[in-house]
Amino acid sequence: MIVSAIAAVAQNGTIGNKGDLPWHLPDDLKYFQRITKDHHVITGRKNYESIPAKYRPLKDRVNIVVTRNRGYVAPGALVVDSLNAGLEIAHLANESEAFIIGGGQIYREALTMRLVDRLYLTVVHADVQGDTHFPKLDGDEWEELERKRHEADERHAHAFSFVVLERAH
Ligand SMILES: NC(=O)c1ccc[n+]([C@@H]2O[C@H](COP(=O)([O-])OP(=O)(O)OC[C@H]3O[C@@H](n4cnc5c(N)ncnc54)[C@H](OP(=O)(O)O)[C@@H]3O)[C@@H](O)[C@H]2O)c1
Repeated sequence: MIVSAIAAVAQNGTIGNKGDLPWHLPDDLKYFQRITKDHHVITGRKNYESIPAKYRPLKDRVNIVVTRNRGYVAPGALVVDSLNAGLEIAHLANESEAFIIGGGQIYREALTMRLVDRLYLTVVHADVQGDTHFPKLDGDEWEELERKRHEADERHAHAFSFVVLERAH
């Protein structure tokens, strides 16, 4: 099983603000849906609660919520007390590619523990204010496999690039 993380990251590292995304980029949301569809997705409790109630659990995916709160209930989702427990569920279900979908704490822990093999980063070409950031990557550790640019337009305030990276070693 491959472990992937998927995130939209401003060029200054911002990924969130006040419990929400700091931008509205509909074609990036579509990309997220397409890439993660039919897979296990593992999310921090705060990110899960930031998804509007009518869209959660995310459809056509097994949703796994990570929390230290043993009494936590998320109807339609699985609840675990660690990232590794979430990955174990995906592994036991013969998942081919499990996705870590944030937020900031969960990305940081996954990268620090070197759990991530592949990164799907939507690099937003702007400096954006926010309170949640993606960890700084060591460029030597990651090899860029793909890059596709999407220009700003009437629906997207910022240009962005879909970048896929794999751990080089
Ligand atoms: N741009 C993007 O692609 C993107 C993607 C996802 C999220 N976001 C943004 O990121 C922000 C949320 O991120 P965040 O850093 O505040 O929170 P988070 O990572 O979503 O969730 C943190 C919570 O996860 C649980 N947790 C973390 N580590 C754990 C561990 N080792 N074991 C058990 N539980 C653990 C804890 O839940 P309990 O407190 O319940 O114990 C903790 O409070 C929002 O603004 C969201 O919009 C952006």
